[in-house]
Amino acid sequence: MTRKVPPRLPTRALVRRAADVVLVIHGPNLNLLGTREPEIYGSETLPQIDAKLVALGRELGLTVECLQSNHEGVILDWLHAAAQRSDVLGVVLNPGAYTHTSLAIHDAIAGISLPCVEVHLSNTAAREDIRRRSLVAPACIGTIAGFGADSYVLGIRALVGYRARAS
Ligand code: DQA
Repeated sequence: MTRKVPPRLPTRALVRRAADVVLVIHGPNLNLLGTREPEIYGSETLPQIDAKLVALGRELGLTVECLQSNHEGVILDWLHAAAQRSDVLGVVLNPGAYTHTSLAIHDAIAGISLPCVEVHLSNTAAREDIRRRSLVAPACIGTIAGFGADSYVLGIRALVGYRARAS
């Protein structure tokens, strides 16, 4: 009697999933969106923006994970942790005011192998002198600023295009 042997399936560990997670990190004070200087930052709240980004991810076949912190060290830890994961495609980061002060965030991005797009709701180039300089930008693959919440949308699309060109 011959017994039918099922074809061997690769074990889960051997099946490598393509990186399909985009990490969106919002820096300090962005939890206040909706009520914070709406004439500059718009009236959408952070949960509303995040919901749009998650929906965009679904459209693009990606998982968008959104995080917000008011603490520089926490943002550093998230960047380091992202680099340890095999499913992260890259990072879209709005460093908030840390943009203009944080060499540590610059160094974290430079020290990991993940591409990072810097985004800003407002057009920082058209604001006060201190906001015109980004310490973070030189470590990023590019910067998008001035389009309100669409800056994040454009940032995700730019990251996906960058990865598609790089592979
Ligand atoms: C910001 C611009 C920064 O200068 C500011 O400190 C922010 C928000 C923006 O998204 O426009 O907190 O990053």
